[in-house]
Order: sequence, then structure tokens, then C-alpha cells
Amino acid sequence: MTQNEEIKRRRTFAIISHPDAGKTTLTEKFLLYGGAIQSAGSVKGKASDKHAASDWMEIEKKRGISVTSSVLQFEYDGYCINILDTPGHQDFSEDTYRTLMAADSAVMVIDAAKGIEPQTRKLFKVCAMRDIPIFTFINKLDREARDPFELLDELEKEFGIGTYPVNWPIGCGKSFKGVYDRQKRCIDAFSDAHRGRERVRGIACDIEDTARLDELIGEYSRAALVEQIELLDVASYEFDIDAVRHGKLSPVFFGSALNNFGIEPFLESFLKMTTAPLPHAAKERTVDPFEEGFSAFVFKIQANMNRAHRDRIAFLRICSGKFERGKEYYHVQGKKSIKLSQPQQMMAEVREVIDEAYAGDIIGVFDPGIFSIGDTVASGGMGVTFSDIPTLAPEHFAIVEQIDSMKRKQFAKGMTQIAQEGAIRIFTEPGMGLERVVVGVVGVLQFDVLEFRMESEYGVKYIKRDLPHQLIRYIVGDVNPADLKLMQATRVVEDMQGRRLLIFTADYEIRWALEKNPSLELAEFHTM
Ligand code: G4P
Repeated sequence: MTQNEEIKRRRTFAIISHPDAGKTTLTEKFLLYGGAIQSAGSVKGKASDKHAASDWMEIEKKRGISVTSSVLQFEYDGYCINILDTPGHQDFSEDTYRTLMAADSAVMVIDAAKGIEPQTRKLFKVCAMRDIPIFTFINKLDREARDPFELLDELEKEFGIGTYPVNWPIGCGKSFKGVYDRQKRCIDAFSDAHRGRERVRGIACDIEDTARLDELIGEYSRAALVEQIELLDVASYEFDIDAVRHGKLSPVFFGSALNNFGIEPFLESFLKMTTAPLPHAAKERTVDPFEEGFSAFVFKIQANMNRAHRDRIAFLRICSGKFERGKEYYHVQGKKSIKLSQPQQMMAEVREVIDEAYAGDIIGVFDPGIFSIGDTVASGGMGVTFSDIPTLAPEHFAIVEQIDSMKRKQFAKGMTQIAQEGAIRIFTEPGMGLERVVVGVVGVLQFDVLEFRMESEYGVKYIKRDLPHQLIRYIVGDVNPADLKLMQATRVVEDMQGRRLLIFTADYEIRWALEKNPSLELAEFHTM
């Protein structure tokens, strides 16, 4: 296969949902139907997955997929698919935001009984900021569900987008009979065969074949369906691929991930409607995926993925060309030629060292501490620097202090390494070393993650005192913070690069600082 053919068959998408809507189950079924795993249940362990509340694996939702295998690749019908998993909880929205930077589209999983939930709302906003196509999978039709018209109406009103149901459910819960495929104008009947763990194909039946329909779903369901389809054909949006590609129209699919129902039809339509890898904006120009030269950016860094090796993996999204193992590439921010060592991909649940990868793919490389989020790696001569990935300002702060002076080194090492990953912010206070730090996070659950990781990965316990601060600003220019007139509550901190910042408990404190120090200039956190 040529390089262009390889790139053309790539599809890279993120999967988002409120916890429990069925994201893990659906992902697992994708792998099952792609032939990457033999039977469902092997990606995610069962009861053993229930960890204590403090367990960050549990917090990040079933580490089996959310963390360790945050990127999965599998083949389906000639396509090479990369799924990016995102943590379900809003406290990890920064991680999700970055992950979405690496995706060309998103699949939003919704529980048919619940509709839009708080986290769906938040994640959707992040997708909308990226202007990427959003596909909706309404799950759990085998249970009592809300009226499908009402669900679509909710999506349209809340998210301000159009919806296009690709298929339509026939009943729900105990009377769930299957779905009607609007393009093929036939039904896909649900049978008990779906309840197993194997892959099954639905039974197709033409909508005009009344006798057979009555046999499959019963006269009552058939009559209701015909009525609903008539209504749908007049009331719903027209299909418009351009609107789909710009995230203005969401194709909607109904199914039941747990029951292997609707997976294949979803994959088939989805793969046709999504695009091959999209161009990426760099500061110098827009990079086309089919360009000869290799280019990629780092969107996630994760330490200690492999407990035996205590390694740090940087995840790169390839934006153009072909990656080859052993070749030298240029790390733009480090201004150095590098060889990416141990390039790996997740194939189902196995991490594999790879020799080559193409635009659209995600690769994990060993990071000896040289990468930061947003860094560019490219073939010599590409001359591109990808635009920065915006960061979210921390909104919760705490003072964290080590308690065991024998473990001073481990404490400093853990804090430094976790800070380098970029999701949890670690600051020091002027004159203080690394034995007492100020931690800033976007969501409070990240405090639990920090505590759990410091203990399990670095063997360190600490005490934590919450601070009432909520706002953070950089101090612009060369100002000595000791010369500033500040309200008592305002604190001065320093980031790992030695830049000075102020943290505040409220807006009026910022106004006070600016008024009393006319030469003081403050910058928003995300701009630095
Ligand atoms: P998440 O990753 O979005 O958090 O959701 P996950 O797939 O873990 O699914 C949450 C629960 O919903 C699981 O049940 C799962 O089995 C169930 N589920 C997923 N899809 C369907 C569906 O189509 N129909 C029905 N009825 N249930 C579905 P659980 O009891 O929490 O866990 P488990 O013991 O089954 O793993």
C-alpha cells in the first residue's frame, strides 16, 4: 500500500460520555467487531474493577481503558481506526480537551434513559470549540428509554446543533424490537441472539414487506414505526455531509452496546461519514496530512504507565507523512535532532513496538523528560511548529507538605515529574524549596489522583491544606513581588520555569492589586 493509501484509510476519533453511559462497553464492542479481541469482557475486568474511592484508577474510570490504553488501534473493513479514550469525569476536562486536539471527530455516547447529563454537556462544549464532527450513539435501548423524539429535541436545543437519525428505534426495554435503517429503508430486528457475547448480525427486513415485518416485530410495533417514520421524514433535518463535517449536524444512531446491537451499522455509516486525517494548523502554515515529510505534536504525557519500568510516555498525534523507527527527527522546542525510542501503539490490550506509523495515527514514545505538551517533532526541513494547546487555569489550590524528611528526594521527584505531565500544576513559594508546594488543579478529584500516585508510585505520604484561592494570574515583566502591595490573602507563587504568579481568593483582590500597583501587569494563565 502506498503512503497516501495508508493515510486515506485512517480514522481517528475520540469517544466521550458521562460516566456509565456505556463508553467502555461500546469501545470494547468496536474491538470485538474489528476482530481485535476474541470475546467481550477482555478489555475491562469485571468485579475486580471496583476499587476504593481513593483509587485513581477507579477515579479515572476503569484504568484498563481510560489510562493505560488511552489510545487503541484496530482494523475494520479496510479502515485503520484509532480510538482516543477520554476520562469521563469533569475534573479531568483538561485531559479531554487535549485529547480532542488529537482527534478528527468525536463519538458521544448517551444513555437513552437519561439523555444529556452534566458531563456530556461539558465535553460537548469542548468538541464544539474544535469544530469537529460529532456522532451520537444513544445506548441502552434494551432498557426503558426516553422518547426518541424528545431525546433529539434535547440535543438540538441544548447544543444548538441539528440531528440526523441514521436509524430509528422500534420500542425500548422489554418491547425493544430493533431499529429502522432510514437509508436502506429496512429494519434490523433485535433478537435474543444479541444478548450473548459474540458478534451477531441483525435480521434485515424491507419496510414495505408488511407481512414479514408483522412476523418480526408484531403488528402494533409495525404500525407505530410507520407513523413515526412519516413524522421523521417531514420533521427532521435533511442529511448534509458538509454540516456533519463541521460539527453542525450530528448523525444519531440507536443501539445497545452491551447486547451487540447496532455496532456494525454504526461503524459502517460512521466510517463513511468521517474524514481521513484532517490538515493541522501550524504557526507557519497549514500542514496537509499527505505531505511527504513527517510531523507530529505531543498532546499527552503520562508517567509510570508501566509499573515495572517507571517510564514516561509522550503521546504524539502524527499530522503528516510517515513515521519510521530509527530515523532522526527534529524536536522543534528542544532545538535538537532526536531518535524516538520504543515507539509503540496499543493494539487492543497489547502494547506493541512499531516500525512505522502514518498521519492520523497516535504513537507513544519513551520520554526521557524532554517533551512538554504541545511540542512539535518533524522531519528536518519541514519548518513547522504546531500551535500551542491552550491550557485551563487551575481553580482549586492547596498547600502540600511532606511529612517524612527521609523521603525528601522522592517527594521532590514525584512533584516534579507529575508537574511535567502538565495536568496538575505544582508551584513553589518564594524562599521555599520543594518540600512544601502549592498545588493547583482544575477539578478537585485531581487532588485525590495526586495523593494516590505520590503514595503508590513514589512511596510518599503528605499533608494537604486546602486554600481558599480560586484565581491565578502571571506577573508580566521583571517585578520583585516583595515590592508589591497586595491584600493579605493574595499569595505569590512560582512555576517550575521560575515564572512568578499571584493567586487570589476573589476578583476584587485582583482589582485591588492593580489599583495599588499602577505598574503591575497581569496575564491570564492560559496565555503563557
Ligand atoms: P462508561 O465507560 O461510560 O462509564 O460505561 P460502561 O461501559 O462501563 O457501562 C456502564 C454500565 O452500563 C455497565 O454496567 C454496562 O454493562 C452497562 N451497559 C453498557 N451498555 C449497555 C446497554 O446497551 N444496555 C444495558 N442494559 N446496559 C449497558 P455495570 O453493571 O456498571 O458494570 P458491569 O458489571 O456490567 O461491567
